[in-house]
Amino acid sequence: MSKDAYRIVLLPGDGIGPDVTREAVAVLELAAAHGDFTFSYKELPAGGAAIDAHNDPLPPNVLEECLASDGVVLGAVGGPKWDHLTGAMRPESGLLKLRKALGAFANLRPVFVPDALAEGSPLREDAVRNTDLLVVRELTGGIYFGEPRAREPEGDHEKAYNTMVYTTPEIERVARVAFDWAGKRRRAVTSVDKANVLVVSQLWRDVVQQVHDKDFADIDLQHMYVDNAAMQLVLNPRQFDVIVTGNLFGDILSDAAATLGGSLGLLPSASVGGRTGLFEPVHGSAPDIAGQDIANPIAAILSAGMLLDFLGESRAAEAIRHGVAEALDAGARTADLCRTGHRRVSTSEMSEEIQRNMKAFFKG
Ligand code: IPM
Ligand code: MN
Repeated sequence: MSKDAYRIVLLPGDGIGPDVTREAVAVLELAAAHGDFTFSYKELPAGGAAIDAHNDPLPPNVLEECLASDGVVLGAVGGPKWDHLTGAMRPESGLLKLRKALGAFANLRPVFVPDALAEGSPLREDAVRNTDLLVVRELTGGIYFGEPRAREPEGDHEKAYNTMVYTTPEIERVARVAFDWAGKRRRAVTSVDKANVLVVSQLWRDVVQQVHDKDFADIDLQHMYVDNAAMQLVLNPRQFDVIVTGNLFGDILSDAAATLGGSLGLLPSASVGGRTGLFEPVHGSAPDIAGQDIANPIAAILSAGMLLDFLGESRAAEAIRHGVAEALDAGARTADLCRTGHRRVSTSEMSEEIQRNMKAFFKG
């Protein structure tokens, strides 16, 4: 039988994007060497790198290659160099366009506190230990994409506006993703909105409830206002299993949740819904530490793990999660996680340590 051959597009992007994407590829290669599948890669520019090379944050041929691939692995986009740009010329616009074109309407952001990191959390250890939740963020609608939007003159001043808009089908499909995941986890969904103020949230709440009552009545559903959810996340994160929310609230809450484990450098994500998924760390491009071999590669490496899960290569995905947990247990810490008494490692050293533990996993 011939091996499955997956075609992967790599979009390292800007800042530390290339530093961490390199390590994601290294673990994918190791996984392939121990599985019955292979990867081929096309590395292409996106974000600021594509603006510099082609004056377009997502050139048409790059988008085409992404659509034709089995998975897209992205590093990070943006940075001060491109901050003066506006509208469709911004690096971030390229990413939004890619998410939309891939039909990646559900952004899965698992948030966990590895045992080894609970004591280093900025929050109280006993509050964060064993946190294991999944943020399901709607990714191709809401205020990120809503029309009308503009910045325009009004008399002697300016005005600007965006529109937060959701349709019933957009809410239904992401709610289904959340309930499906809850069914594989601890069977509880918290839907986060601002239904006490926003009419778009009132529709959100009603539709999530209807999907629940019709097809997922065996899952526990609660609704929570976003301001309260932000507080509950740092007060008692263990109360959550699956959180489902709109694009903007999900963006904000997932960064807040990232502090639980002590670093944004830990959190992976998968954006799914179409034929091809997009896999990227939750963190940004951190231009101040780019190219110095000090960024934390764990979020990118775990994103590669989510890609393997998406492709159905669950043993390889398991090896990656195991490798990360073992490296952290053994005390390896990149700069973002490093405190007195810790063993400080570089980006590549962290990756090597993870790979060593993956090899042990494959042997055992
Ligand atoms: C994220 C990022 C992006 C977002 C930016 C870079 C457009 O913050 O993936 O969380 O807001 O979605
Ligand atoms: Mn964000």
